[in-house]
This record gives sequence, structure tokens and C-alpha cells, in this order.
Amino acid sequence: MPRITLTVNGQPSSAEVEGRTLLVELLRDKLGLTGTHVGCDTSQCGCCVVQLDGKSIKSCTFLAVQADGATITTIEGLSAPDGTLHPMQEMFRKHHALQCGFCTPGMMMSAINLVETHPDGLTTKQIRHAMEGNLCRCTGYHNIVRAVEAAWPLMHADAARAAK
Ligand code: FES
Ligand code: FES
Repeated sequence: MPRITLTVNGQPSSAEVEGRTLLVELLRDKLGLTGTHVGCDTSQCGCCVVQLDGKSIKSCTFLAVQADGATITTIEGLSAPDGTLHPMQEMFRKHHALQCGFCTPGMMMSAINLVETHPDGLTTKQIRHAMEGNLCRCTGYHNIVRAVEAAWPLMHADAARAAK
């Protein structure tokens, strides 16, 4: 079996994987990062979204071997080492943007990428359109959109501070 190396949530990682092993299987089964969920396995629901080299991808339809050498961020990698929540996590909490929480890791990973790639602003319509690849069975969409809207200024303020 080929051995791949990658960086996951800032930590170097290495694993032997079969050619058919999916990235979500590597994350959940070999690395124990079970915050990334599997809702459909067919690229429909978005529960499995992680960031690969800064872009959100559905890890249920991505082979682990394709991630060789990549930098991956999962939901476990969002909060600071002292436990401070990422602004997106904080806004999901504040705006009650989750019910059962099953879709939430994928929702947040997609939303973070969306906010990061729109430094000039985001309309409600853009958020709704961009998040259509993430399904919530508890139908919490309204508050999810509110949380993303509220996270935008916080994330860009953080980015501006970091650039100084
Ligand atoms: Fe990947 Fe549903 S589990 S999109
Ligand atoms: Fe339950 Fe979205 S909060 S599926």
C-alpha cells in the first residue's frame, strides 16, 4: 500500500492507504478525526467538507492518495490551542445555527472558505447560493445564513490584524 504524508490541522501526518481509500476514511478511521461526517457518500450533502490547501472539498469523493503532500484542515483544527472558538464557530453558537449538529462541521468548513474568498463582502443571496451544496436535515438554513453574515466582518477583521 502506498504511504502518504500530509499536514492535518498543523500536525505532520503519515499513513498507509489503499488506492481506493477515500480522504474521509483516512481522516475518520485512521487519524481518528471523527468530526468530519459522512451523510450520503455521493457528494450530495456536504457533511464531509474539509479544507485542502485552503479550498473546501467534499472528502467523500476525494481519494486519500490525491491528498499526498497536502495541508488539510478539519473541524477539529478550527479553534485556537487555548480553546478560543473560530469566529465562524462563535457565530454559529450565537445565532443558533445548529440543531442536531450533524451537518455543522461541513457547513462551517464551506462557510469559512466562502468568507475567506470574498474579502469585498457577501450578499445574503450569494451565501444561500454558495451553501447549496450543504444540506441540513433540521432545516436550520435561516440561522446558518445569519451566522455566516455575522462571521464575515469578524473574520476579515482578524485577517486585517494578522496582516499588520
Ligand atoms: Fe460527502 Fe455527503 S458525505 S457530500
Ligand atoms: Fe441537524 Fe443540520 S443541524 S442536520
